[in-house]
Amino acid sequence: MQIQPPVINIFEKAVRKAGKYLLRDFGEIENLQIQSKGLGDFVTNADLKTEQILTDTLKYYYPEATYITEESEKIIGNEEIIVIDPIDGTTNFIHGIPLVGIVIAKIINEEITDGVIYNPILDDFFWASKGKGSWCNNNRLRVSKRQDIIDCIIGTGIPHMDRIYPQYLKEIDAITKNCSGLRRMGAASIDLAYVAAGKLDAYWERNLNIWDVSAGVLLVKEAGGRVSQPNGESWDIHSKDILVSNSNIHEIIQEKLEII
Ligand code: IPD
Ligand code: CA
Ligand code: CA
Repeated sequence: MQIQPPVINIFEKAVRKAGKYLLRDFGEIENLQIQSKGLGDFVTNADLKTEQILTDTLKYYYPEATYITEESEKIIGNEEIIVIDPIDGTTNFIHGIPLVGIVIAKIINEEITDGVIYNPILDDFFWASKGKGSWCNNNRLRVSKRQDIIDCIIGTGIPHMDRIYPQYLKEIDAITKNCSGLRRMGAASIDLAYVAAGKLDAYWERNLNIWDVSAGVLLVKEAGGRVSQPNGESWDIHSKDILVSNSNIHEIIQEKLEII
């Protein structure tokens, strides 16, 4: 078993603390669904409260860092950047679907060096550190070995409302008719963690933010997977669109997305 680096211990402390709070709220959701009032406020509060717990815990250890979080203004500090998504998969959370991730990552010189994703409902704690592999609950993660796209399950994000872009149905068509099935998890962090764990063989999505993907990108890389933009160009922390895979099927997916 890999010994967790100190930074991961700190991130774990923060996400487990926030996770306890979120788990309690998840139990409350059913009641609120029945009453169907106040749910919006309740979830907004859950997002804000979770973020508050995370930043309070982290600022004790990293008082000088720069913080980029989904729910608050950027806090400008030193060159060490801490990125936070307090609840990735909010829509799942609202609907009582247990696929959510509390995400923290550290970036230095444009490079993601450490990251964690915690699903408090399933009690899955994913972490990765540069050069130290990807892990979930003390088990080393490896991407799948599948070679033929026809045997593969592929994750994606289906856009809705004002996030719809013109070619998304064509993309889905091009991929789904050539594979074993598509999955829409509803939490980009979980999609990425599941590619790292070899459950999904690949995943693509457009119009994401750094807090959605930061920790997950490192998990995929450290599990032996490949990360790029859907057109094959290299992915960096400013990219909005992403394609990750077990490596073996990367080019074929890229080709199918490209000919649209
Ligand atoms: C969303 C989830 C979802 C993805 C969206 C994200 P949120 O994050 O990751 O899977 O399709 O693009 O915005 O809003 O639940 O933190
Ligand atoms: Ca998110
Ligand atoms: Ca979020």
